[in-house]
Amino acid sequence: MSSTPASVRFLTGITTSGTPHLGNYVGSIRPSVRASLTPGVQSFYFLADYHALIKIDEPARIQRSTLEIAASWLAAGLDPERVVFYRQSDVPEIPELTWLLTCVTGKGVLNRAHAYKASVDKNTAAGVDPDSDVTAGLFMYPVLMGADILMFNAHHVPVGRDQVQHIEMARDMANSFNHRYGEHFVPPQAAIEESVATLPGLDGRKMSKSYDNTIPLFANREQLKKLIAGIVTDSRAPGEPKETEGSALFQIYQAFATPSETDALRKDYADGIAWGVAKQILLERIDQEIAPMRARYQHLMDHPEEVEAFLLAGAQKARAIATPFMARLRHAVGLRGLTTGVVQAKVKSVKSALPSFKQYREKDGKFYFKLADAKGVVLLQSLGLESPQLAGKSIGLLQKEGAAALEALAAQLEPMADRDAVFAALDALKDAAG
Ligand code: TRP
Repeated sequence: MSSTPASVRFLTGITTSGTPHLGNYVGSIRPSVRASLTPGVQSFYFLADYHALIKIDEPARIQRSTLEIAASWLAAGLDPERVVFYRQSDVPEIPELTWLLTCVTGKGVLNRAHAYKASVDKNTAAGVDPDSDVTAGLFMYPVLMGADILMFNAHHVPVGRDQVQHIEMARDMANSFNHRYGEHFVPPQAAIEESVATLPGLDGRKMSKSYDNTIPLFANREQLKKLIAGIVTDSRAPGEPKETEGSALFQIYQAFATPSETDALRKDYADGIAWGVAKQILLERIDQEIAPMRARYQHLMDHPEEVEAFLLAGAQKARAIATPFMARLRHAVGLRGLTTGVVQAKVKSVKSALPSFKQYREKDGKFYFKLADAKGVVLLQSLGLESPQLAGKSIGLLQKEGAAALEALAAQLEPMADRDAVFAALDALKDAAG
């Protein structure tokens, strides 16, 4: 097995290509902030700014959107102490992993990705070259997304239906990498939010930037009032009973209201509420939820240095995981320092030259173990443990799982000087045992 994290890991990203709207809030920001409060869950939230480059070539817009989305998440209650909250482009291991995954991903698999296929179908229908205006970035999108997920061995990735195919592709990448190089990745699962309905926009179609029918999440009350006034309704007069079915206004209300509030509005509809009155009720309900966050959002927008500091601290947490994991992956595929390879070849041929574990007790009464190479050079050193059984268990895990056990045991092992040498020694032991 690969690393055995103590908790379940959730991970989700938002592409930094626009201003967050109520649809993003209801569909992604609000549920993910709630999920981050669940005990036993370790959450990763990031700003997918590398992904934004696929769609957008306006640098100022990407920067602005990064600030707006980060500020929205924070204003909505995301606690950066509790979660790992970072900007994708602050973690250089992610594009590095993208290349390793690119090399285990079938081109045919990417040919079938929905977003790429849609472009090809459109071009074909228009009678132009199938790849006209398709960048390699769009084609490679699923691999970058796979690297986002596999970098942190996320178990669950909460996404909308349109992203499920990408998660399946990430599973395939994990499996083909593991098949070639040993168990390093946890195949992730999509966590589809069935309960989270997609929010209709002002015109009744799905709220989306591309339809230009959105309500910005942090519109001020006046703007909010104006936008709500523009939600399409039918022409029924006050006093005439109204249908809740297919009413964008009703559906938006439902996404914010409690079940009993929703029932009350349903009854008002049947009783022939005037559209103007219904819109006023909707305005108040949204404002009740968003107003308390607005001040925090405005503060963060006015102090980008605070947001920047949160993101840099988050990147540090992310890299504390990504850097050693990437070192392990580099070793696994053969991107290694040249000296350790030679050492390993010798180790394999002479059994007595194998590295070995030593267990001992110190004057402090604690139990220790270390891994030393054939010459006695210490490669791994444990901290003081409470019992010899604990030390024995850790050694057993290292012998059985090799480098894959290092992450789970990180808390009881001293940082090692030369990772390549440690990996090579553990590989040699595993090979000798198997
Ligand atoms: N592709 C996602 C979207 O457009 C954003 C994203 C990038 C993402 N990397 C991810 C989501 C990893 C979940 C996990 O919505």
